[in-house]
Amino acid sequence: MRIYMDTARQGQACPAAMQVECEFARLAFEDPYLCSLPFLQHGARVWTEQRQREFPELSCWNGSHRLHEQMAFALGTRDADRVFVASQSARFVRTACRLMFRQCRSVLTTDLNWPAWQQIANEEAQKHHGRILIAELKDLAIRGNASPQELNEVLQSQFLHHDCDGLFIPAVSSLGIRLAVAPLLRQLRSLHSLRFAVVDGAQALGHIPVSDIIDSCDVFIAGCHKWLQAHLPLGVALTGNGLTTEQFASLAMNSDTTSDCHDPLLRFSQELRTERLQKYSETVNVLPLLTANSTLRAASKALNTITDSLALRQANRQNVADLLQDSPWCPVASTSMDCGILLVEPRQTERWNPEAITAAMHQSGISLSVYPDRKLRLSMPSQILTELELQFLRNTFTAVSQQML
Ligand SMILES: Cc1ncc(COP(=O)(O)O)c(C=O)c1O
Repeated sequence: MRIYMDTARQGQACPAAMQVECEFARLAFEDPYLCSLPFLQHGARVWTEQRQREFPELSCWNGSHRLHEQMAFALGTRDADRVFVASQSARFVRTACRLMFRQCRSVLTTDLNWPAWQQIANEEAQKHHGRILIAELKDLAIRGNASPQELNEVLQSQFLHHDCDGLFIPAVSSLGIRLAVAPLLRQLRSLHSLRFAVVDGAQALGHIPVSDIIDSCDVFIAGCHKWLQAHLPLGVALTGNGLTTEQFASLAMNSDTTSDCHDPLLRFSQELRTERLQKYSETVNVLPLLTANSTLRAASKALNTITDSLALRQANRQNVADLLQDSPWCPVASTSMDCGILLVEPRQTERWNPEAITAAMHQSGISLSVYPDRKLRLSMPSQILTELELQFLRNTFTAVSQQML
C-alpha cells in the first residue's frame, strides 16, 4: 500500500494530468505537427475527428482563453482577464512585489512566508528603498495555540505600529497555519491604511475556499502543481482590480528578456489568448497549460464543493491524530490550523534525523514532508481514509519510530 500525503514541490498528478502527459509524448512521436499554433489558440476542434478520437484527453483543450476562464472559475470569479499563468509562481511574486513597492513604503510580512518568496520581497524592497517588517506568528500559532483572530490582532497592531502600507502574507503556510486573510484585509482597508496586499495561495488553491481572499487582495498567487494535482509547474496570478490588472499585464508583456519579470510562457499564453501572436517569438514548453486544462476540467465539480472536501480532509486529520495518541508521535493541535494539514512531531528524541525519517516513511509507503526541526507535514487526501489505510498508517508510524531508536 502507498499513501500520498505531500504537497511539496510538484505534488502528485491526478489521472487526467497523467493521461495528458502520456498522450502528449505519443503525439510528439507520432505527429508533432498536431501541436500547431491554431491548436494552441483554438483547441482540438482544428483537428479531424479521427485525431480527436486518438488523443481523447488532449481533445479537451479548447484554447488558451478557455483555460483562463476555467482558472477564473476555480478561483471563484468570472473575470478571466484578471488571470495570468506562467512557468513559475515565483515570477509572479517578483512582479507583484515590484508593483507593491512602487506604491508602498513599508510592507508587513510574517515568519510564515515561504522563504524563497520572502527573499524576492526583500530584494524588491531593497531595489525600491522600501522597508520590510516581519511579524512573528509561527510560535504564537504552534506553541501558543493562538486563534486566527489573535494572529490578526498581532498583524493589525504591527501594521499600524510600524506605519505600514503594504502586506504580503500566506493564506495557508507550508506548515498548515491558516490566516484569516479576508477579515484582516477588510479591517485594514476600513482604517484606510492599506495600499497593496499580496497573498500567497500556493497551499490554498484546491484546498480551502479562496473566493473571499481574492475579492479582498490586490494579487493572489498560487500554482496548479500542489493541491490541484496538475503535476507540471504552472504559476497562477489573479489581480484584484482593473488598474492592477493593467499594470500587471504591462510588466509581464513589456519586460524584455533580460528582466527578472520576464516569463516566456506567460508572454506566450497572453499572446495566444489575445490573438496577438509574435511570429518569431521563442519556443516554450506548452505542456503545463494542457495538464492544467485537463486537471481543472476534472476538478471543476470538486472545486464547487471545496468546503465539503475540506471537511473530509479534516475528518481524516482528526482520525490520523487520534491514532497517534499514546504513540511516540505527537500531533500538533492548534486552532489556527483549520485546514487539511496535520503537523506531527516526535515526542522525545532530538536525535532523529529529518532525512532519515523522510526516507523511512517513504520506504514504508507514506509520502510526506519532514522539516529540519523534525516536524512532519501530512496533507490529507479528500477521500475518507479507510480502516485499512488508518491501520497501515498506525503500523508505519510505529515501525518508523522503532527504526529511528
Ligand atoms: C506556502 C508556500 N508558498 C509557496 C511555495 C512555493 O511554491 P512553488 O512550488 O509554486 O514554487 C510553497 C511550496 O511548498 C509553499 O508551501
